[in-house]
Amino acid sequence: MERFKEKVALITGGGRGIGRAICVRFAQEGANIVFTGRNNDENVAETIRQVEETGAKAHFIQSDISQVPAVYSMVKEALDTFGQIDILVNNAGIEINAPFWEVQEKDYDAVMDTNLKGMFFLTQAFVRFVKENNRTGVIINNSSVHEELPFPNFTPYCASKGGMQMVMRNLAVELAPLGIRINNVAPGAIKTPINAKILSDPALLSTLKNNISLGRLGEPEDVAAVIAFLASDDAKYVTGSTYYVDGGLTFHYTEQ
Ligand code: BGC
Repeated sequence: MERFKEKVALITGGGRGIGRAICVRFAQEGANIVFTGRNNDENVAETIRQVEETGAKAHFIQSDISQVPAVYSMVKEALDTFGQIDILVNNAGIEINAPFWEVQEKDYDAVMDTNLKGMFFLTQAFVRFVKENNRTGVIINNSSVHEELPFPNFTPYCASKGGMQMVMRNLAVELAPLGIRINNVAPGAIKTPINAKILSDPALLSTLKNNISLGRLGEPEDVAAVIAFLASDDAKYVTGSTYYVDGGLTFHYTEQ
């Protein structure tokens, strides 16, 4: 399938985890890739290698999406590099594990500024480009099951994801007349570095698996496949929705 021939996708947090899988999936389907990350390390080099292996071009921007001027520069650099952006994937996100009564202001700010403010203003920069150039565009936010489901000890994270849900719903209405679709993907427990602690602890891992109907964690590629669907014309009538990619975690219930 080559659904993204001659398209350019901008993906935040593409150095590892789900972000890397998104970069590679879009590249496999013909897009050129711009991706961002806070650090320029061996993970970035590996994403570039995997993208280029498909025959697509990759451009990395070292940047922190929690800074508004930085997200505007990101769009500019992507345009200077490839001349267009067709698809924006707001993927970068962080979480901090702390009981509510111990959350520090700096941690609250880091989570909200990266997950919600960064996505808000990068989307704004992208929308301005689309509008000013009479183009169309598609936006996918990598949210979480926790835009809906409680996650004790991760309250700022849940606040940011709940916020992403409402930003997405609002923009679906506001941006449709501009020819822009926007949707969220809500991953459950996926095998990525964000879950490193659980993955290395057999007891925690077994409890988690018991909460997932399919009985296992997801792969980054499982999420990337749904994001690619939403970015493609196969989903041309889909806007304002959240697609769960969680192996059944969200509504898992059993009395046994
Ligand atoms: C979080 C993971 C968590 C998963 C399922 C994700 O949004 O980033 O830490 O394991 O949700 O609860």
